[in-house]
Amino acid sequence: MSETTKTRRLWRDIHVFDGLRTLPEPMAVISEGARIVSLVPMREFDEATVEGCHDMGRGGVMTPGLVDCHTHLVFGGSRADEFEARLEGASYEEIARRGGGILSTVTATREASKEQLLELARPRLEALIADGVTTVEIKSGYGLTVEDELKMLRVARRLGEVLPVRVVTTLLGAHALPPEFKDDSDGYIDLVCREMIPAAAKEGLADAVDVFCEKIAFSVAQCERVFEAAEAHGLPIKAHAEQLSNLGGTAMAARHGALSADHIEYLDDAGIQAMRQAGSVAVILPGAFHTLRETQQPPIAALREAGVPMAVATDANPGSSPLFMPTLMLNLACTLFRLTPQEALAGMTAHGATALGLKGGGRIQEGATADLCIWDIDTPAALAYAVQPGRLRQRLFQGELTHA
Ligand code: NIG
Ligand code: FE
Repeated sequence: MSETTKTRRLWRDIHVFDGLRTLPEPMAVISEGARIVSLVPMREFDEATVEGCHDMGRGGVMTPGLVDCHTHLVFGGSRADEFEARLEGASYEEIARRGGGILSTVTATREASKEQLLELARPRLEALIADGVTTVEIKSGYGLTVEDELKMLRVARRLGEVLPVRVVTTLLGAHALPPEFKDDSDGYIDLVCREMIPAAAKEGLADAVDVFCEKIAFSVAQCERVFEAAEAHGLPIKAHAEQLSNLGGTAMAARHGALSADHIEYLDDAGIQAMRQAGSVAVILPGAFHTLRETQQPPIAALREAGVPMAVATDANPGSSPLFMPTLMLNLACTLFRLTPQEALAGMTAHGATALGLKGGGRIQEGATADLCIWDIDTPAALAYAVQPGRLRQRLFQGELTHA
């Protein structure tokens, strides 16, 4: 599109949360094509600049499009039975050890075709989009064979082609030990390192590599092998770590320059310091904490004090977080973990983008991509305060209005 035909849009008198903080006074914002080109306080705003702009209205709150940096949206089957079993007293770990949990989703996901998985995932992603998401990370991890993991990643990539959202994919081959490798977890890690990662890298299907470092999944040493294989293929890494116990997976991941360590309820001071030094993001997942009725709090105050950026995500998945509402996570992050509403919002915008390696993403500033949400609320804190669908007035993805 030539310079002259790019659509210019103007918002007046709007409260802006810029991805890191709420700006102190009402603003005028102009986008042109896919970019934000002007951001000025109303009292400095010159009406002469509006010529040729679409009037997008006044008032409300503008935030960057939300960034959900940790999801497992592609899967087959349901785990409602497991939900009931947990209510009757079974723990997430017990269910996993008896072959349920993640492995029951693996069976259903292997049985589903690419087309079926796409149709199952689409309404889940549409729910996130309707709640303001413009960037979403989607993990594999329910295939656990080379072909089935690639199938999941292809579905994730396809979702980003059929819906107005940026999809970032993560290969999570080391999520659980598949039944074929029972008693040979090192053999499975060989498969992940020697076949899965090279195949995903070769086809450009993975933007990062993740692991589940836990007693019911893989050891620190096994996860480190996965990271070395990822590095050999130029792929960034991240980890599900310290979710159910403290194994030291976070510190090891940080030593490998991890983009993020996620869950981290059991993280200790050494892990926090390692994250600080590496510049890794702490991804806080209140949906899994809530669903599993966890009682161990992630070390929020210590992370804050160390200056480790905190992201907030849905962890949307069929087991530990069957919750497909990002703004609910803002509320839970505040009520369960005492994040401030500003911290929670930064966690689902600027810091969420950093956790995905998207430098400068999740921000409202001149030159940034016009991924924007305009909300019918009067202060950014209200987004975390109330859990109320229907407040999204407008959503723009790369400057295109997708919701009005
Ligand atoms: O992020 N912790 C491991 N993996 C997922 C859960 C996946 C599942 O239960 O299906 C998580 O919580
Ligand atoms: Fe997860």
